[in-house]
Amino acid sequence: MKGFRGTLVDFTGDPRTQPGALRHVEDGLLVVEDGRVAFSGSYKDKLNPGLEVTDYSGKLIVPGFVDAHVHSAQTDILASPSENLLDWLEQHAFRAEARFAEPRHAREGSESFLDELVRNGTTTAAVFPSSHPESVDALFQAAERRGMRIAAGKLMMDRNCPPGVRDQAERSYEEARSLIGRWHHRARLVYAVSPRFAPTSSERQLELAGQLLQEHDGVLLQTHLSETENEVRWVRELFPWARNYLDVYARYGMLRPRALFAHCLHLDASEWERLAAAGAAAVHCPGSNLFLGSGLFDFGAARRAGAAVALGSDVGGGTSFSMLRAMYDACKVARLRGLPFDALDGFYLATLGSARALGMEAHIGSFAPGREADFVVLRPDATALMARRMAQARSIEERLFLFMTLGDERAVQATYILGARN
Ligand code: GUN
Ligand code: ZN
Repeated sequence: MKGFRGTLVDFTGDPRTQPGALRHVEDGLLVVEDGRVAFSGSYKDKLNPGLEVTDYSGKLIVPGFVDAHVHSAQTDILASPSENLLDWLEQHAFRAEARFAEPRHAREGSESFLDELVRNGTTTAAVFPSSHPESVDALFQAAERRGMRIAAGKLMMDRNCPPGVRDQAERSYEEARSLIGRWHHRARLVYAVSPRFAPTSSERQLELAGQLLQEHDGVLLQTHLSETENEVRWVRELFPWARNYLDVYARYGMLRPRALFAHCLHLDASEWERLAAAGAAAVHCPGSNLFLGSGLFDFGAARRAGAAVALGSDVGGGTSFSMLRAMYDACKVARLRGLPFDALDGFYLATLGSARALGMEAHIGSFAPGREADFVVLRPDATALMARRMAQARSIEERLFLFMTLGDERAVQATYILGARN
C-alpha cells in the first residue's frame, strides 16, 4: 500500500450538467493498493500511521489523461504542412503508415509513441496504428509491458489509398479476427474495430467491419466522420444511397454505444440526434481541426442533442500530444463559436468524459475507490511565468484554468500507471 499527498482533483459527472461534479481536496491523500485506488480524500483522514507517503504537496494530482483519438504511426510526420486533409493524407500520413509494415520500425515507433503519451500524462488512448497487423502487435506488446490501458485495432482500408497501406476486404477481416483473439481483453488492452473512414473502405469491407462488431463482445468501434466539406461531398458520391455521412456507418451496424466518431465537424441536426440516440460519441480533436483547417466543432449542437463528447489529440493531424493543449484548443474553438468552455469542461473531457466515451468509466477516469490507479502529478511552477501567474490564482478553478491555458508537457511532473511511476 502506498500513499500520495497533494491537491486531488477529479469528477463524479459532467460539471456542465451536474453542478458539484468537481471533487477537490486541497490537502488530499490518494492511497493505492494492488494498483487500484483504495482511498481518496483528505490527508487528515489518513488511517494508517505507518503508510509510506510520497509528498506532492502544492502539486495537483489528477486522473491520467485519456486521449480518445490518436495515430501511433503518424508521429514522424506530425506538423507537416499541406493544403487540406485529403492532401495531407496523400502526402504525409499514408507514407508514414506504410513504414509500419516493417516490424522493427513498428516496434521502435510504438515505443517512442508511448513514451510521448506518458511524458504528457496520457495513460489511456484509443489509437489508430496502421493497416498492418504488425503495427497493432507492436503497439499492444509495448503497452502490455508498461501495464497501460490502450484500445487499438488495425486500420481497415481497401480502396482510394496507395498499395503500401491498402488491404483487402476478406483478408482485413481475417487479420482483425486473429488480432482480437490475440489481444482483446488481454491485460488492460481492448480491441477497436477501425475502418479508417468511409472513403477508403468498400461496402464489402464496411459490412465485414460490422460483422466483427457483432461477433465479439466488448470491442470498440473507431473511425473518422465528417471532418471536411470535401470529404462529405466525396462520401455523397461514393455512397449515393446514403441519407448522409453518418447513415453509411449506421447501415453497417457501426452506430452503437462505444463507437467513437472523430471530428464530426459538418453534421446536420438529424445526424447529431441519431448519434446521440445510439449512445455513440463524437471525439473532438480541436488541435487537428485548427492545424488542417478542417472546421470548428459545434459544441452547441452536441450539447443540444445530448451527444457524448470525448477529446483527442489526433496526432499527427494534431501537432501536440499534450491533452492540456487539446483542452485549450477546445476552449478557443468554443470561444469562436460563442459558447462557454471553462477549465472544468476541459479537465472533465480529458479524464472522465473520454473514459465514459470509451466505456471504461468503471476502470479509469476518476479516483473513486476500486478504480485503476492511473494518475498525473501537475506542477504549478513548470515555467517561471506559470509560477508567477499561479501565485495570483485564488480558486481551484483559476488554477485549473492556468494549467489549461499555460500548461503542456513541462507541467507534467510524474505519470503513474497502476500506482507505479513511469
Ligand atoms: N481521415 C481519415 N484518415 C485520417 C487521419 O489519419 N487523420 C485525420 N485527421 N483524418 C483522417
Ligand atoms: Zn484521426
